[in-house]
Amino acid sequence: MKELAEHWDKIYKKTEDENLGWYEEDFSQTLKLLNLIRTWRDSKMFVSGVGTSGLVDELLQSKADLVLNDLSSEAIEKLKLKYMDMDNRIEWLCQDISEPLPPDLKKIDIWIDRAVLHFLTDDASIGQYFKNVTSSLKVGGYAIFAEFSKKGATKCAGLEVRRYDIQDLKENLPFFECIAEQEYTFINSKGDPRPYIYALFRKIK
Ligand SMILES: C[S@@+](CC[C@H](N)C(=O)[O-])C[C@H]1O[C@@H](n2cnc3c(N)ncnc32)[C@H](O)[C@@H]1O
Repeated sequence: MKELAEHWDKIYKKTEDENLGWYEEDFSQTLKLLNLIRTWRDSKMFVSGVGTSGLVDELLQSKADLVLNDLSSEAIEKLKLKYMDMDNRIEWLCQDISEPLPPDLKKIDIWIDRAVLHFLTDDASIGQYFKNVTSSLKVGGYAIFAEFSKKGATKCAGLEVRRYDIQDLKENLPFFECIAEQEYTFINSKGDPRPYIYALFRKIK
């Protein structure tokens, strides 16, 4: 896992945000799903594999508290510098998201994952990831996933990915109901289309 962290660290060290293959300026696809949750602006949110995403700016415009996770300490350090003044609203968690979460992590209202889950390729890691989603969320809490769809690329950032359709997500979330789903093609900074599946789930028990 150390090698994987180094892989991502290297990318964040040498690449300006705007040149990252997954860089987005427009967060409307995620916000569309968030806006289906009436209370999101007052919630506690967990962003897995946040990278250096500008989505954090959007989220911090609300009153939400954030847990920002990434495997890459380089990405986390960049964000820490940027949000020095917001530290009272942010909890930092530099760890592999396919490992159990710290037992003292307070329950959260919303889990957000864009382009992270699809990097987990073995069943044990995927199983633990979904255990983390399920155990960290309150009953009535929500999870948003944006992952490469079955029409999507098979590799990203030089790594193999596992692609998803809505059925795959549902099978991994037995205690959740699916509230919304949508296919969306993201055009990356090189102009290449990247088909994603976006989905919002609610934990019902
Ligand atoms: C394609 S980037 C997406 C970043 C961000 N979510 C976004 O939408 O801009 C994938 C991110 O997941 C992180 N990552 C990859 N594998 C991870 C893991 N097992 N645990 C936690 N973070 C991971 C990487 O360091 C990277 O920041």
